[in-house]
Amino acid sequence: MNKAVYIQTYGCQMNQYDSERIVQVLARHGYDPTERIDAADLILLNTCSVRDKAEQKVYSALGSWKEYKNNRDGVIIGVGGCVAQQEGANLLKRVPHLDLVFGTHNIHKLPQMVEQVQESRARPVEIAFYRDPGYMEDADGRTEVRGVKAFVTVMQGCNKVCSFCIVPHVRGRELSRPSFKILAEVESLVAKGIVEVMLLGQNVNSYGKLTHGELSFADLLARIDAIDGVRRIRFTTSHPQDLSPELIEAFATLDHLCEHLHLPVQSGADSVLARMRRGYTRDEYLSRIERLRERRPDVALSTDIIVGFPGESDLEFQQTLELLKQVQYDEIYSFSYSPRPQTVSAKLYDDDIPSEVKSHRLQTVQALQRQISLLKNRQRIDKLEEILVDGRSKLKNGQVMGRTRGNRIVNVLPVRITGATANSLIGETYSDRPYLNSQLLKGDMA
Ligand code: SAH
Ligand code: F3S
Repeated sequence: MNKAVYIQTYGCQMNQYDSERIVQVLARHGYDPTERIDAADLILLNTCSVRDKAEQKVYSALGSWKEYKNNRDGVIIGVGGCVAQQEGANLLKRVPHLDLVFGTHNIHKLPQMVEQVQESRARPVEIAFYRDPGYMEDADGRTEVRGVKAFVTVMQGCNKVCSFCIVPHVRGRELSRPSFKILAEVESLVAKGIVEVMLLGQNVNSYGKLTHGELSFADLLARIDAIDGVRRIRFTTSHPQDLSPELIEAFATLDHLCEHLHLPVQSGADSVLARMRRGYTRDEYLSRIERLRERRPDVALSTDIIVGFPGESDLEFQQTLELLKQVQYDEIYSFSYSPRPQTVSAKLYDDDIPSEVKSHRLQTVQALQRQISLLKNRQRIDKLEEILVDGRSKLKNGQVMGRTRGNRIVNVLPVRITGATANSLIGETYSDRPYLNSQLLKGDMA
């Protein structure tokens, strides 16, 4: 009989994707995924260390998992992802009931590590980085595909030096998968019913740059766009410095590339951007957005903002607010700065913005963005949008949800089939609260 694996995932889309890979790799070794931690033979935590008290969160989750080991015989507990990469064997020292630790490049080693634990009660740690992108390659063997959307990794790691960011330290240097592997994977996903692919990488814009003769990211997009059956392409995430004219052009010319770009700006003040070592000024960023909007006027934009970076003055913070007003993003993800191990900003600067000031600034950007998002959403009323339905609405009112090409969530009424002819079915909407969404929007304004 197969064994059961339970995975808890923290963090970004790359981590969600890595968890999918973990499930696939283990499936070939007789493990079925389970939603019930108390029924699992193997319990895994896929961790994120990009912000905040990531390490404490991991230690406390692991602490609470001890009981599962006491409950059942032979339960194995493992930690993977960025905190595993960062902490390595320290995790084993601090958590006596932990069996194994695997880093961000070592998912393919997991079955072998589990065997080691079973056979010799060893406590393996695998956190080596590889210089060959081959370690990403078991994705081809996806056994099962659920739904209509899939992640596809195109590159991993990052060669940028943003002073606040731990990613290059825990995900390693930039490595691109060979394009023929990516194209083959997309083709096989389409054959299994996938219509939307989300291409993943820490900085997808630099795809292929380090591999002689490889396609550029814009060329890769064009090849994927031409695959029969691909209806939608998205990607994340992009560094503004590498938003090339070719990539901007792709938004104007590729039919299936969705008109949405996530372009993290982090701050609206040149002085802060310089301390962050982002490699662009506010004006350079804005002029790229301007060029993109010239070529694709309806493009939806989202961004990441950090508030309370060391030394951020009120004036500098105001410049971030001004930037949000100027760009009119559809959506932002905003974070309070937190110093991360090994990063340049943690070494060079005191974390000198008091936490009350950080949280006040965070609330201020979020409140401003709520107004902007509402305005932008209202501008869409009466527009025709194509949505790809992919789940139940979070409003739990019987509606289903989908996303527009511009990545906006739309909640839609399902229908009850009330009649049938030989050629078609007749449907009636059945939600008893059809105006719930517009009420929510009004509530937001109040
Ligand atoms: N590769 C991406 C994102 C990496 S991390 C990029 O190019 O931007 C995702 C987001 O987390 C970042 O964009 C940043 O806004 C935020 N972040 C990263 N390190 C942080 C830190 N030390 N404190 C607060 N937020 C941070
Ligand atoms: Fe991090 Fe900057 Fe790379 S935010 S992932 S170092 S582009």
